[in-house]
Amino acid sequence: MIDIHHHCLPAVDDGPREMAEAVEMCRMSRDAGIETIVATPHVLRGRWQNTSRHKLETILDSLREKIGDAPRLVLGSEYFFAHDMAEVLRTNGGIVPLGGSRYVLVEFAAQAIPPLIEQPFYQVQLDGWTPIIAHPERNDVFRAKPELLARLIQLGAKTQITCDSVTGHFGPEAERAALEWITGGLVHIMSTDAHNTGRRPPRVAAAIQRVRELAGADVAEHLTRTNPAAVIEGRGLEWEPEPQVVRGGGFLKRVWELFGHRENRSH
Ligand SMILES: [Fe+2]
Repeated sequence: MIDIHHHCLPAVDDGPREMAEAVEMCRMSRDAGIETIVATPHVLRGRWQNTSRHKLETILDSLREKIGDAPRLVLGSEYFFAHDMAEVLRTNGGIVPLGGSRYVLVEFAAQAIPPLIEQPFYQVQLDGWTPIIAHPERNDVFRAKPELLARLIQLGAKTQITCDSVTGHFGPEAERAALEWITGGLVHIMSTDAHNTGRRPPRVAAAIQRVRELAGADVAEHLTRTNPAAVIEGRGLEWEPEPQVVRGGGFLKRVWELFGHRENRSH
């Protein structure tokens, strides 16, 4: 697996506080089958500035010295969306693209999507950047209006869901959205969004297994390997399904009911 969303850098955001925990997260990732991690510290004005790329690279180098070359570590960031995103990118104002590519990971608050986001998304793409929307399945508005997510995808955005959503750790609503959207062609990449060794560790096996059962081994491979590899290598994605949104019943709902009722899992 190539994990494009991972908070493994110590003492830069709400990830690990100490280097020792960061090292342990990397070892857990390696043991889980993650070959490459894109370290994606939060970039959020007023809370986590993280505007010094040099400082982040220095921390990354220190971590790399301790873990060796497995997993391979590259730098990125998780940018908390603001409408001047294009300007921030133009002025190197803190957004670190994923692995030196032209892809940028963008998150929104969990409860809201700001109005008029199509224009800045369009603008950054004019400048040659491709936004990847981080964990839309954990956002109330995208869950209520998946057509908004489909629209952004049709306008060129990509999406990344979280392994822990697929396995229910973020609750039944995020789980249901993640599974429906995988089947409905609204998901391009699956990543851990790991934050620590405790409640949010880098765990992947159960999520990959669930995607395989739901959508097949090929889709699981695309979400965890071929598409994220294309991202960090700066290529177009290998797998881009046509988004389909079915609300209030229909095929996707039946898939969910069949799948959801088959297992009695406790969380
Ligand atoms: Fe994150």
